[in-house]
Amino acid sequence: MPETVLVTGGAGFIGSHTCVELLAHGYEVVVVDNHANSSPHALERIAKTAGRPLAAAYQVDVRDRPALSRVFATHQVDAVIHFAAHKAVGESVALPVEYYDTNVGGTCALLSVMHEHAVRRLVFSSSCSVYGDARTVPLTEQSPVAPTNPYARTKLTCERILEDVCAHLTDLKVLALRYFNPVGAHPGGLLGEDPQGVPNNVMPYVAQVAVGRRERLSVFGDDYPTPDGTGVRDYIHVMDVAEGHRVALQHVDDRTGMRVFNLGTGTGTSVLQLVAAFGEASGRPIPYQVVDRRPGDVAELVADASAVAEAWNWTTTRDLAAMCRDAWRFQELNPHGYAS
Ligand code: UFG
Repeated sequence: MPETVLVTGGAGFIGSHTCVELLAHGYEVVVVDNHANSSPHALERIAKTAGRPLAAAYQVDVRDRPALSRVFATHQVDAVIHFAAHKAVGESVALPVEYYDTNVGGTCALLSVMHEHAVRRLVFSSSCSVYGDARTVPLTEQSPVAPTNPYARTKLTCERILEDVCAHLTDLKVLALRYFNPVGAHPGGLLGEDPQGVPNNVMPYVAQVAVGRRERLSVFGDDYPTPDGTGVRDYIHVMDVAEGHRVALQHVDDRTGMRVFNLGTGTGTSVLQLVAAFGEASGRPIPYQVVDRRPGDVAELVADASAVAEAWNWTTTRDLAAMCRDAWRFQELNPHGYAS
């Protein structure tokens, strides 16, 4: 079992929760993050939440190969979890070069530095957005991929690169995890999602409405072919995502080569169902208005989560009520995020 894990993007939303999970299970954790979209305050909160310090944290951009190589030279890294990436779909349309440079270029730089230091285990942060506008749900790992925006194409490109590298370096072990919609927060209230500016995603937006930072949610379309007409997603508690990464590390040695897994719950929730659940969890009704569809949105994305269940004997355990309760606790205790 890997003992020292290097986590790129370890101060970000999913990265920080994964660091807590790893620390809580005895791993040594080294973080690399350039803080392009994360707060250094998250690092202190990781240690406080886990009750144990990180082995080290470096403000390094993964594309900076000499700096990254120095980190690998300083620590005996057993496995890498690679989160560091840009992740806003809309922004990726306006900034495709930046997205390819960071997401694809960063992955290539990491792979070359891992090779230089003979590190052979990688868990890669992929996305269900690679499936695009799904014709049939639930989505299995064998469902056709058809990304509809530059962000999703960077993730699929990375998966393809990883396949090619695994074909060449036959002792490499790679797990690519396609997350559905990670939401929620650590139940301790210190760690959560802290988006810069206006949140792109529905859950942090709803949380900011509940706390009074924003007037009302805009529901992007109610004429989708779904039960109530609003978009359906497979929301997954960020602590289940974090746990999934820990379990992935336990299984990364199962075989060599590249494997792809969905990380979802298998349950679809509409925007209006989410609004109702958050209102219940916070005790504050969420005002909303229905507006036009958001360009590029799809009707429904729900995982078939059976592959990880079979391969790892593991399933998610936290439901929508827990996701809303924990997101609300973080928002209420930190109304302005980590700057609070
Ligand atoms: N939505 C609203 N109002 C908002 C924001 C979102 O109604 O203000 C709706 C969307 O139309 C969609 C649902 O809420 O139906 C979820 O939208 P999110 O923006 O929260 O999430 P997405 O499914 O669009 O995308 C997210 C991440 C991507 C990632 C994708 C799949 O933003 O990075 O999940 O992994 F690629």
